[in-house]
Amino acid sequence: MRERRMQGAHVVALAAASLVSLALSSCVAPDDPRLVDARAFRDDARVRRAALERSIAGHDTPYAALREAHYALSGALSGALSGSEALDPAADWDLLPELTPRVREVFVDGRSGEAAPIAQTDLASLPQVLAAGEQAFDRYPAQLDLSLARIRTRADAERAGLHVEESGRIRGLVEAETASGWVRALSCSGCHGRFDGASFRLAIPNEHLAIGDPSWPLGTVDVTDDGLDDPMRPSDLRPIALEARLHHTGNLENGRVERMVRIETLLVTQQRERFRPSRALVAAIALYLESLADTLPELDDTSPGAALFERECARCHALPGLAGAWVDVAEVGTDPVATTVGGQRGTGGYRAPSLRGVLDRRGLFHDGSAADVRAVLRLEPSGHEGHPFGLGLTVAERELLLDYLRGAP
Ligand code: HEC
Ligand code: HEC
Repeated sequence: MRERRMQGAHVVALAAASLVSLALSSCVAPDDPRLVDARAFRDDARVRRAALERSIAGHDTPYAALREAHYALSGALSGALSGSEALDPAADWDLLPELTPRVREVFVDGRSGEAAPIAQTDLASLPQVLAAGEQAFDRYPAQLDLSLARIRTRADAERAGLHVEESGRIRGLVEAETASGWVRALSCSGCHGRFDGASFRLAIPNEHLAIGDPSWPLGTVDVTDDGLDDPMRPSDLRPIALEARLHHTGNLENGRVERMVRIETLLVTQQRERFRPSRALVAAIALYLESLADTLPELDDTSPGAALFERECARCHALPGLAGAWVDVAEVGTDPVATTVGGQRGTGGYRAPSLRGVLDRRGLFHDGSAADVRAVLRLEPSGHEGHPFGLGLTVAERELLLDYLRGAP
């Protein structure tokens, strides 16, 4: 009896204590939803699996089928799939060993930088997470490529389209430590990084990229092994959170955790399905990229070009991101090969990419076939095919469109 009363008192005390902490916690800003999502991605296979399934709802492609067969299968078991489906645990990429190799920088005089680990993150504070994500974007060995071993001199680096800094460091090229020694790889910024004459800008496509097959146009690379010769331009990742779909072909739905899944599975397939990356780092890269939307030029909705844009372009490049989900390739009229249905990412169409920041890009469309936005609007002669939009406007009106797209820095 006495004991029970004690218990009762205890419960009351606990309740009072939790009331106090409730009151206290409501004064403290709640944890940033970006970090909450990042931790859920890191810790919960059901969250990963649900994001994967959401992301492929748009289009069924071989790209999607591979991921459906291997990604976060235990999350599928407790969720969408019923337990009756037999799953081969060896097929679950979640069970791969996690690996974050040490890396070093590469210099044109043959020197290698100091070997150093890639900074980790515990996903606790947003500034630390964004800094870790930025660093990993620039240093993580994303694409191992044997041909990179041939790069010895400044001329070799420049021929491959890689930027050489004053120190002699080749930007976007790293060496990663593996069981069989140091191997070369491109980091994300080797493909998604641009030297604009003054500074190296992360996440903007590298229009000089010339690795792989010499027949590929500058600034493109074939990232799918589906037998189609379809080199594509790396995307501008600054507006990634504003895109209506992911990939040029729009085969994936977009979303925060969906982007984390996209990056994790990229790295798993790059490692030939033998290792998986640190999920915390993947989440950090994704949140870093998401944060770059804030660095894009602001658009002025009251400028004369805004009304023209609304009339001629916004039905596909919808406000506010100036992005759209999917347009039949027959309507847009650009080269259809990369979106051949049955190809790894083919959907028979292309997404309308976000035009926020488009003036910073060179080599436009999925295949880099238009030199820049002036070429797209036929303000300069251009050899590209398709995208016959806005061409009924006068030259002066097209210049106004351009002013609108340039925005204010
Ligand atoms: C070898 C060059 C190369 C490297 C290295 C590379 N990418 Fe890409 N990336 C591409 C190409 C090409 C595309 C366009 C593919 C498509 O749309 O189908 C792309 C597309 C993407 C997309 C989809 C963008 C969108 O708008 O839908 C994301 C996200 C992305 N890359 C992130 C990364 C990250 C993160 C890394 C480093 C871990 C990385 N990439 C490394 C070439 C590269
Ligand atoms: C019918 C839909 C549609 C309309 C209308 C349209 N676009 Fe597009 N736009 C697209 C699609 C789809 C792509 C991607 C094509 C590809 O990658 O092959 C694209 C790509 C672009 C690109 C290249 C961006 C990049 O990063 O590669 C620019 C620039 C562009 N559009 C500008 C405009 C402007 C300006 C207008 C209005 C005058 C306009 N578009 C109207 C569908 C449209």
